[in-house]
Amino acid sequence: MTIYIGSDHAGYELKELVKKHFEGRFEFVDKGTFSSESVDYPDFAHAVAEGVLNEKDGVGILICGTGNGMAITANKHAGIRAALCWDPAISALAKQHNNANILVLPARFISSEKAIDTIDSFFNAEFEGGRHQRRIDKINL
Ligand code: RB5
Repeated sequence: MTIYIGSDHAGYELKELVKKHFEGRFEFVDKGTFSSESVDYPDFAHAVAEGVLNEKDGVGILICGTGNGMAITANKHAGIRAALCWDPAISALAKQHNNANILVLPARFISSEKAIDTIDSFFNAEFEGGRHQRRIDKINL
């Protein structure tokens, strides 16, 4: 499994921490940004969404200040289910019920420790299918 990861300047430091957490565990592709210099979050949300959609069962992580810009942008792509999560229980449900394929984190509103727990919980959870698949099938326009 390759994880596509991206952030804007507000999420840059957390992105670097997440990469350290992944090293030796998961393969990942860093789509930027590559410094704390101010950038525009949609550039990175689109890059990660495209990476995720180009792979079977692709998955991504996006990080900005609130998470909202990244989630709003990524969810413009049909087939992307980007879930803004700030807690391990929410990220587990995002996978179990929504089969989210991008986890979005709000860097300015979550501690590093909670962010890592939120990520681990997401990757340890499994989609439950059944009635949840029926609901997901109704999402795309
Ligand atoms: C950047 O200042 C901030 O607006 C961005 O990281 C994000 O929170 C947007 O949704």
